[in-house]
Amino acid sequence: MESHPHIFEIKDISFSYPVGKTVLENFSFHLHYGQKAGLIGHNGSGKTTLLHLLMGLLTPTAGSIRILGEKMESEKDFKKMRPKLGFVFQNADDQLFSPTVLEDVAFGPLNLGKSPKEAKEIALQTLESLDLKGFEKRISYKLSGGEKKLVSIATVLAMDPEVLLLDEPTTGLDMDTREHIIQILNNLDKSFLIVSHEYDFLARTTRDFFGMQKGKIMYYGDSSALHTHTHIHPLGKTPHRHNGIAAQEHPNDGHDHAHEGHVHTHEDDQ
Ligand SMILES: Nc1ncnc2c1ncn2[C@@H]1O[C@H](COP(=O)(O)OP(=O)(O)OP(=O)(O)O)[C@@H](O)[C@H]1O
Ligand SMILES: [Mg+2]
Repeated sequence: MESHPHIFEIKDISFSYPVGKTVLENFSFHLHYGQKAGLIGHNGSGKTTLLHLLMGLLTPTAGSIRILGEKMESEKDFKKMRPKLGFVFQNADDQLFSPTVLEDVAFGPLNLGKSPKEAKEIALQTLESLDLKGFEKRISYKLSGGEKKLVSIATVLAMDPEVLLLDEPTTGLDMDTREHIIQILNNLDKSFLIVSHEYDFLARTTRDFFGMQKGKIMYYGDSSALHTHTHIHPLGKTPHRHNGIAAQEHPNDGHDHAHEGHVHTHEDDQ
């Protein structure tokens, strides 16, 4: 039994960027030990800001943050905590800063006190586990978008953190790679909070989800309720009905809409 029931415990925090409106106001949230949760919400609703506050990359103007039972009050507190938190940035360019992939992935283990030889071994194993064998000498900034995202995930997994905070980890990944990430996450005995707009991905990797709207958690539920159907739509742009529910005219591109209480995607075929 863990001595700290909550991995994250946020109470009444407020935050605004120096320029712009308030992003979070009297915001409270907790993730309990062992919880695997998704965080969904419209663009600009404050999801990335929340993760940055949890990592101590931003400081709230009011309220308190506890992580693994410890009160986080200064950069010193976060510095001690960060190795236990594996954070994948929304933008991989914020994550990768070393010349080569090997140096990027070995950085975390080295920082945790592993010897250069051990850190290299961990990095190579982690790369292999993500089907990135042979990438070690590649130049990080020259990787493709999806490759950068995968290497970002590798940098975090190599640290074997207690909890994962993943900000849109599947952006730019092809279907097979995404499937591989799902298998990896499902085989991890860790807690995580994943921000994603891909409901089917969340349904397969998490048990609960939080829905954020305008800087507040507005809903909470069981992730199995989140799902997406992707199919070629025979009616395309023609207005039509779904199960008796009138559907609006469909645009050419894939879009989400709800029917029968769930969210649904059509890839229209025109
Ligand atoms: N560095 C910044 N300076 C000023 N405003 C910012 C900054 N970063 C984000 N914002 C604003 O804060 C709000 C919340 O942004 P945030 O990035 O947390 O949203 P998000 O929910 O992660 O969105 P998305 O789904 O698009 O990633 C938005 O209105 C955004 O424009
Ligand atoms: Mg974001």
